[in-house]
Amino acid sequence: MVTLRWLGHAAWMVSFSKTKVLIDPFLTGNPKAAVKESDITDVDYIMVTHNHGDHLGDAFTISKRTGAKIVGMFELSAMAGEHGPSEENFIGMNKGNLTKFGEVSMGLTAAVHSGNECGVLVSGDGKTIYHAGDTALFGDMKLIGELYHPDVALLPIGGYFTMSPREAAVAAKMIGARYTIPMHFGTFPPIEQDPEHFRPLAGENTRVEILEPGEEFVIP
Ligand code: NI
Ligand code: MN
Repeated sequence: MVTLRWLGHAAWMVSFSKTKVLIDPFLTGNPKAAVKESDITDVDYIMVTHNHGDHLGDAFTISKRTGAKIVGMFELSAMAGEHGPSEENFIGMNKGNLTKFGEVSMGLTAAVHSGNECGVLVSGDGKTIYHAGDTALFGDMKLIGELYHPDVALLPIGGYFTMSPREAAVAAKMIGARYTIPMHFGTFPPIEQDPEHFRPLAGENTRVEILEPGEEFVIP
């Protein structure tokens, strides 16, 4: 059983049978955070899509407190400097593969944004999740769908900094995940959106699941 819990904004806890992967843990200062940074006690890996504060968030603090390894673009460890976790707690990768780490496989994908950006893939227990990070629409999302067949695509729909529902709907069609869950909306005034406007745009080949921060989705 693989469970996704939306912690608000672009933050997710992905629970595999033996491994917990936290993605983009922006909790401190996040008006929609479902938990506090200090509530995260059980985590193995922290995947970070880019170095903007609403994604890097509490990653260094949680890693230092729990020993969880940070997975992201290799420049992140240099950026952390002496205030970050120790070198052995960074897995500095680059885009373009899915690599096995024990029970799970993780990888970084292209994204179109700023801040040394990427998307992330995480796979385990026969399920694959694609978290697009902050991104514009780009055509190679089709390849991500064809290569990795994600069961779930987590897509930003807030607009202003990322895709809005119009672009995210095209992304959802190209990726063709069994389930698509919108994120990165409603946290701040510029990214107010009604996710129900996204649902009919996304078409028939994916099922749109709309969560509230704090809610869980068990991948069927
Ligand atoms: Ni960003
Ligand atoms: Mn963002």
